[in-house]
Amino acid sequence: MADKRISVLISGRGSNLGALLEAQSATALGGRIVGVVSSRGDAPGLALARTHGVKTAIVDPRAHATRDAFDAMLADTVRACQPDLVVLAGFMRVLGAAFVREFEGRLINIHPSLLPLYPGLHTHRRALADGVRVHGCTVHFVTQDVDVGPIIAQGAVAVRDDDDEGSLAARVLDVEHVLLPAAVRWFCAGQLVIAGNRVRVSGLSGPAREATMLVPPE
Ligand code: GRF
Repeated sequence: MADKRISVLISGRGSNLGALLEAQSATALGGRIVGVVSSRGDAPGLALARTHGVKTAIVDPRAHATRDAFDAMLADTVRACQPDLVVLAGFMRVLGAAFVREFEGRLINIHPSLLPLYPGLHTHRRALADGVRVHGCTVHFVTQDVDVGPIIAQGAVAVRDDDDEGSLAARVLDVEHVLLPAAVRWFCAGQLVIAGNRVRVSGLSGPAREATMLVPPE
């Protein structure tokens, strides 16, 4: 069976894209990243993609008069990659309804909190302000509402007494880099079964089974 075609949407650093590219190089992704689309021309993740020989495109909202025009251009650009899977990896724009409708079921996002806690921005700051002891990240299917949608996997870290936003973000990011490639691998292998708001990963056994709820050792 041919490798699944993956489009990755970014807006910045691209460290999650890097984790996916690394997994791909280790043939541990079950798919091939065929295009990276950035909403910003200065996103460092673009250079990373090019280093790996991946085609890149920039769809900048500031270059479009309306949100609908931006959404339409984004959809055209992603569609041209003929993706089986679209991964939002730090894509900092809210997607329009038409885009989500077109790619729903093959559109996933990584979010830096244990959803449904802390949708939106500044998740680490808000977790610290609330004094929670557990924080983490979520990979989920994207639906029409922002940061809502069937959860594929979550990773948790303990919040330490001396954590600040930077240290907490860094520890969560390390978990993201494991969780996202795993979720993509399951998708590519056809292992994700959505039933209502729940996702089952079929065919997991033993320790792999735990990977949908990752808690790295302290
Ligand atoms: C990550 O924390 C991701 O969860 C969030 O945006 C950040 C992107 O980081 N959606 P990077 O660009 O992958 O380094």
